[in-house]
Amino acid sequence: MSTTTNTKEFVSLLKSLRAVRQFADKPLPPDAVHDIQDVIRWSGNASNQQAFQVLWIENRVTLKRLSELPGYAKHLAGAAAGAVIVSMLDRDELNAFDEGRISERIGLAALAHGIGSSIGMLTGAGRKEAARLLGLPAAHEVRTTVSLGYPAEGALRGGRRKPLEELVKGVA
Ligand SMILES: Cc1cc2nc3c(=O)[nH]c(=O)nc-3n(C[C@H](O)[C@H](O)[C@H](O)COP(=O)(O)O)c2cc1C
Repeated sequence: MSTTTNTKEFVSLLKSLRAVRQFADKPLPPDAVHDIQDVIRWSGNASNQQAFQVLWIENRVTLKRLSELPGYAKHLAGAAAGAVIVSMLDRDELNAFDEGRISERIGLAALAHGIGSSIGMLTGAGRKEAARLLGLPAAHEVRTTVSLGYPAEGALRGGRRKPLEELVKGVA
């Protein structure tokens, strides 16, 4: 395992990941897209089954149609790209965990390139409708999406957090 040459910078990156939901009308550079996608590939996942596929969508019409489905992913409409994380096996909570971990990695890799992102969860009928829209087999549902793009002006808001002692407690 290599040690990071700039620990402070890395920790600061981890702490500065905020949800960005308004995006500039600017495409993502291919090298950044490749980095983000390869970070997905190297993400830890349950039993290393790699039981997921990520659909990478830059088509504006498809992004808009996904944004209109039931859920909390309206920001896909203005995104330069959307990553749709599809769990391929029937594994209950492991899928949710994998999807969470992958979406976090996407956000961090994007941030390293100055690109903003937000998770967007689909709910209810939106999950099946998204699968149908994306041409997935009938049994599939889509739960987790990530919107990506350069932040629009004013899109970066400071996150509020509880004090450290309230969230993390040392136990004797
Ligand atoms: C598991 C999880 C699910 C989330 N789902 C959504 C979502 O469906 N739509 C959305 O706009 N943001 C979503 N978010 C982003 C959170 O709203 C955001 O992280 C939280 O409000 C804190 O803001 P910050 O990340 O900017 O500090 C999700 C975040 C996590 C970790």
